[in-house]
This record gives sequence, C-alpha cells and structure tokens, in this order.
Amino acid sequence: MKTTKQSFYALAVIIAGALLFSCEKTPVCEAVAIVPRPQQVTMQEGTYKARLARLEESISYVTDATLGEEAYVLQIAPKGITVSSSTPAGAFYAKQSLWQMLPAEKGVKAVKLPCCTITDAPAFAYRGAHLDVCRHFFSVDEVKEYIDILAMNKLNRFHFHLTEDQGWRIEIKAYPKLTEVGAFRNGTMVEKNWNQVDSVRYGGFYTQDEIRDIVQYAADRFITVVPEIEIPGHALAALASYPELGCRGEGYEVSPYWGVFPDVFCPGKEETFKFWEDVLTEVMELFPSEYIHIGGDECPKQEWEKCPLCQKRMKEEGCANEFELQSYVTRRVEAFLNAHGRQIIGWDEILEGGVTPTATIMSWRGTAGGVAAAQKGNKVIMTPNSYCYLDYYQSRDVDKEPLAIGGFLPIEKVYSFNPYEGLTEQQQKYILGVQGNVWTEYIKTFDQVEYMLLPRICAIAETAWTLNGRDYEDFALRMQHMRTYFDANGWNYARHMFEKE
Ligand code: ACM
Ligand code: ZN
Repeated sequence: MKTTKQSFYALAVIIAGALLFSCEKTPVCEAVAIVPRPQQVTMQEGTYKARLARLEESISYVTDATLGEEAYVLQIAPKGITVSSSTPAGAFYAKQSLWQMLPAEKGVKAVKLPCCTITDAPAFAYRGAHLDVCRHFFSVDEVKEYIDILAMNKLNRFHFHLTEDQGWRIEIKAYPKLTEVGAFRNGTMVEKNWNQVDSVRYGGFYTQDEIRDIVQYAADRFITVVPEIEIPGHALAALASYPELGCRGEGYEVSPYWGVFPDVFCPGKEETFKFWEDVLTEVMELFPSEYIHIGGDECPKQEWEKCPLCQKRMKEEGCANEFELQSYVTRRVEAFLNAHGRQIIGWDEILEGGVTPTATIMSWRGTAGGVAAAQKGNKVIMTPNSYCYLDYYQSRDVDKEPLAIGGFLPIEKVYSFNPYEGLTEQQQKYILGVQGNVWTEYIKTFDQVEYMLLPRICAIAETAWTLNGRDYEDFALRMQHMRTYFDANGWNYARHMFEKE
C-alpha cells in the first residue's frame, strides 16, 4: 500500500481505534500520521502495547547494509519494535517517526501502537533550512530550538547566515574588530520607514566556543551546519571594522537600514583576499561541513567601476566587465576552499560572470538560476523565493499578521513546489535538494521566527523527503497531529491551515 490511500486508511484506523478505546485511560496513538510522510507504510494485524517509560528499552537495532545512507525500516510488532538501518542517521530518522506515532501530551503513561512496517528513505540528500542571525540576532538556545525543529522534520542541513551589512556574528580570532565593531549597529530603521532610525544599539555575536557548541548540537541530530560568509557583497559590517578592505577605504558604518548597498569588498586589493582566506581558515576549523556558502548575491558593481585597483585587476585578469571580476573572486575563493577539501555554495548571482563546474548554485531568484545551472551540469539547491521564502506573508489578511517583508506564500503554495520542473531526467540528477529561508529584517523575536517557520517548514520537509505522491489534503490531515507536538514544545505557529478545516 503506497501513497495517500494508506494515510487515509491509517487515519481511519486512528479514529476507529480512538472510539474503541475511548473509555480507557491509555490514548491510542495517531497511527502513521507522520510528517514528512514516509515512503511506504504497511499496516498489519495486532497492537503493540508498552509503558511509555520502557518503550525505548524494547527497541531492537539492526544494521542492514543494503539500506541507503539515511534510510530505515521501522517494524512495530506485538512483541516489540525493530529499527533497521545502515547508519546511525537512519536509526535516528526511524526514532523520529516512532516518536511522532506517540501522543505528544505530557503525562501519558502507556501507549498502544498499531502493528505496521514503515520503509522509508529521503528523496533528496540536502534538506535544509536557513536562518539569518544578522538582521536580528538569536541566542545559542534559540538557535538550538531552531535545530530541534529541523530535526523533527528530518531536515539535515542548517544554513547559518552569519555575515551581513547589519552585523557580523561570528568571532574571528585574527580579526577581533569584526565582532568588537562589526557585531553592533547604532540603531535600526523603524518598521519600513527609511527616514526613521531608532537610537538603540543592537547586536551580538557567537564566540567560537558557542559556534562549536551549536555545530555539535546539530551533529547530534544528524544536521550539518553550513556556514555562510558573504563574499563580496553585503559587506558593510566587515568594512566598518576594517575600512581598508573597501574600494574607498573609509566612511563605512554597520547599517541601520535593510537593503542592498553599493559599498562592497574591494577585490583589487590583495589584502582583501588575505582577509577572506584567514576568515575562511577559521571557519573551516569550526565547521566540518563539506560545503561552505560564500554568498555572492546582490553585489552592486558601481564602486568597482570607479576603483583604479579593481580596474587594474580586471585588466590583469582579462575580465571583460565587473560581473567577470566577481567571477574571478568566486573562482579564487573556491580554489582556496577546494585546496582544503571543501566545496562552495553560492547564490545564483555567481552564475552571472561564469562559474566553474564544481560550484553548487543556490537558486533563490525563482528557479531560473537553478534550471540554468543544472542544464550546465552544476549541482543545485532549490530555494526559490516564490516557494521557499518563509519571511513572506502567509495570509492575504496582512493586517492580522506580524509585519513581514512582503510577498504572499501560503503553505499550500510552499507544498506545491516541484524542484524538478523544467528539467529532463538527466538534469534532475543535479538537484541536490531543497531549502526554506528565514530572512529576519522584520523578524525581531524568536517567537516570530517560529511563527514564520511553522508550519510552512513541514511542507518544505515533505517536498525534500517524500517528493513523489504528495497530496495536500493528506498532509493537512497529518498536520493535525503534528501541531500537537508544536503545542507540547511550546512553539509558536501560524494557524491558517488549521482554521480552514
Ligand atoms: C537573497 O535572498 N538575497 C539570497
Ligand atoms: Zn576596488
């Protein structure tokens, strides 16, 4: 039994079971109301019953080398539970599924699970969520809470956006001013009023010990933290700290405004490359991720056009225009990272002046960049703003919503994303995965991060994990159970999808 019928069947089992046992104290668990939906569930006769406190002891773990890296088989039989996987990651996902079959409410002492076999594996190897901690800063504990939400959704990449115009958020020992100066701004624009800046000093950063703590916390949940260091744009916080790294060499300020700014790093100077290499050396020491994100988005070229050193560099390197100068930067930084065994990810702008075949493209301005990259044979992570930007409004009734950047991205639309659209079967192989992005210009508190993330990240997770045979109605039904975990964890979440029912 595959696809949605099986879930409806399972829900019928839940409802029938709930009626049958409604006079007993033991709640009947919500059968296979799991998100993201497992690839295959086969219901069997019988029930497994256990004291909740002893459930973990009754799980047998089996190594099955024939299973894929993150795949698992979860068998619930009357006499016990068996988890088969080839890796600890597979066993972790089996347990995530099992926990979702248990009641979320506290105080439950005993459980009954319907016997079944769940055979599961992810559609994509890269299943991500991004958090911008620069426009607004979030504590280590809040970042860990974010990671918990990813883990529950079987996501395996946390894209940590660490540098911006409005704040540099990672301690770099070789450049202490990045956090002494660059981690703080003297004010923040008030809502969307470009003429009004408050005078509240705002900022924060993670020490290297805190970064190590976050990386380990994520690794314990089989999540790789992919750090992003913006090169060569979104650089004001770095330039305020080290003005000599800009074309003009002076007059920079950590920005109190949102947006895209003409002052970017100067690639005409060798010391700029030394800075990037020194920073990335420390970043590589902290983050074991194979992929390092080097940004590359929204880099205006007007300062480069005026800068004699940039123009000299272009002549020496045979760059026909400033887009090719950015490409020179990207290639040189990529070569440095490759020499240390790492790979780059860049936003889709890095395609503009030409890229190496080894760069991975993160497609954000729709899917066009991703499609073009896959057609060339570059690897791609799909995170189009049209489906994956979780800072967009999730209702048209914006007066009732917290202030957001704009857009309209209800969960139904997030769920409808097809990462393979426009690609041949051969080109589809280059799609590494899918990611949801949380930019925080208008997200001041972690409570609001949760509200923007939940429940839409569950829709992204189901695209990334399940992909085929998705059915929104079935998803919405399973989300009724998932929300009980949001409640149990005290997570703030948007109610729109639940109110419609
Ligand atoms: C982006 O949203 N500027 C990548
Ligand atoms: Zn320059």
